[in-house]
Amino acid sequence: MAYYSGDLIEEVISQNDIVEVISEYVVLKKSGRNYMGLCPFHREKTPSFCVSMDKQIFKCFGCSEGGNVISFIMKIENLDFWDAVEMLAERANIDTSRFEVKNYYDNKKDTQMKDLKDTLFNLNRDVGIFYHNNLIELLKDASNPVKDYIIKRKLDIKTINKFGIGYATGKIPLYDHLISLGYTKDDILASGIIIENNNGKMYDRFYSRIIFPIFDIRDRIIAFGGRAFSTKVLEKTIPKYVNSPENDIYHKGKTLYLMNFAKREKLENIIIVEGYMDAIALQKFGFTNAVASLGTALTENQARLIKKYTDNVIIGYDQDGAGQAATMRGLDILANHGLNVKVLRLDHDDVKDPDEYLNKYGAERLKKCIESAISLVEFKVSILEKDLDLENFDSKVRFLTGVSNILAKIDNNIERDMYIDKIAKKYGMSPGPIIKEVEKGLTKKSGNDVFVDMQSLNKKMQLVTNVRKRQEQYIVALLLSKKPAIQQEIVKNIKSSDIDNEDVRKIFDFILSLMDNYDINKIDILSKIQDEDMVKEITDIMYIDISGYENKLLQDVLKNKKKEKLYARRDEILKRLDQDISKDESEIIKYELNQIVIELSKLK
Ligand code: UTP
Ligand code: MN
Repeated sequence: MAYYSGDLIEEVISQNDIVEVISEYVVLKKSGRNYMGLCPFHREKTPSFCVSMDKQIFKCFGCSEGGNVISFIMKIENLDFWDAVEMLAERANIDTSRFEVKNYYDNKKDTQMKDLKDTLFNLNRDVGIFYHNNLIELLKDASNPVKDYIIKRKLDIKTINKFGIGYATGKIPLYDHLISLGYTKDDILASGIIIENNNGKMYDRFYSRIIFPIFDIRDRIIAFGGRAFSTKVLEKTIPKYVNSPENDIYHKGKTLYLMNFAKREKLENIIIVEGYMDAIALQKFGFTNAVASLGTALTENQARLIKKYTDNVIIGYDQDGAGQAATMRGLDILANHGLNVKVLRLDHDDVKDPDEYLNKYGAERLKKCIESAISLVEFKVSILEKDLDLENFDSKVRFLTGVSNILAKIDNNIERDMYIDKIAKKYGMSPGPIIKEVEKGLTKKSGNDVFVDMQSLNKKMQLVTNVRKRQEQYIVALLLSKKPAIQQEIVKNIKSSDIDNEDVRKIFDFILSLMDNYDINKIDILSKIQDEDMVKEITDIMYIDISGYENKLLQDVLKNKKKEKLYARRDEILKRLDQDISKDESEIIKYELNQIVIELSKLK
């Protein structure tokens, strides 16, 4: 467990040129002082992803992701901050041991975090061993209902050992066990495995459940899932699965169950299924590229994680209605990340999921289904077809429109024509009307696709950013100008309350607070920001090129501030004059008003 000093961050940033690093993931083309490419974080056809060599930052003007080289690696590799730093250190052959610190005063916040995370990893490992040993003990018992269940679900000992499967009785005191291993009450509660009730009594989240440890990509246990081995206890129905809550090390939407087993250098494809048991069964039968999304809709983070290992996914969700709705949502997210998506169709209706299929019909047969998995387009069309009666005229028109909408979204012309042909044949229609409809959809779409270079991007940004906000962004840009005289003027004259826009104000406050402890011209400000929205805002500002205009902008900013003050006072006076006031007061403030008007006219 290593703690690093903040200097490692600066070292890593200076030794890893952002253009070189990003080039390993994105094809970049030089465009003036910048490099442009297709954004790896959202799907696009014309480049709006921009890397600045001078500023060592990146920004997508399409989806607004942005940051420095560390943020880029965090996002694209799905890593925590310090893991990304370590990876980049390795890339640049930096000897990290030089930056290790004995205590964490240098870097208190970050290192404390790492400390808690490490504790949670260790604790989960110990809990995993505890549950696993429980199960092994139970299996020695000849007549145990849990054992019967394990046999029924075809979980052999090899599989149980490989995936660390366990059993939680909830009766053997896990809390005491963890305390005896030296964990504190706070750590144990942070794991979510033990819950404290209102009376301060500790109880187990998992009892009478088969336990599946959930691993991260580095084989560490980050959470547990527990399946009731009977969903009816004393005639009361209980939830089939209970899972660990999210915490510092477990983020549901970033995890794919068994990805640590599936990952390999170049995978031909990855099969995504819904449940623990499905992924385990597939792996057991030799489909070692199977992972599970654990019953939730697929997320962008999961799409990115997959994209690291392969370009091809096969979705094998449950064949029921809920499964299909989830499939739909997931498919689009995956496709939007440039993944080639196929959908698995089981050729028997009497089984619900891949696990049941494998146990009933075997691996050979499932392999055939996998080989004939249908494309995303075919899947969508088949869903459309299911709800419609194609003998009915209205239905047929609706079907045609629906199909055309789906086809119009295909980027590749050849592929699109192929589908038009195929669908026309399949449904006994002539291709003419389909082509017409698709073309309607296409012209609508192409309106948005103009080539974007840096200049038009900047213009676009200016259009969406209103004038007022832009003025306030200049204030922050001046703070970041690395020109001490200018920076001091801003600090002296501008207060947080002068800034209306909340996002800009947050950045302004943050930079001021950094100035208390650091020379902001020497540190990498971006690595100090955790909040994603703040990163987006500050990278927007960093892209405003003010060099050469600093003095003029400073004058503008100060002038604006003065004007605003005068306007505010003018409004106050006008209001006061409307009220019932003494003649004397009226005279005085009328005189003041006059002066203000004169001053304002000078400031124009
Ligand atoms: P399923 O109900 O399809 O369960 O839920 P399953 O995986 O096939 O499990 P078996 O075969 O009945 O044992 C799919 C996934 O959805 C999540 C779990 O991750 C489960 O594996 N789920 C389901 C929950 O989190 N909670 C639930 O109550 C049910
Ligand atoms: Mn199942």
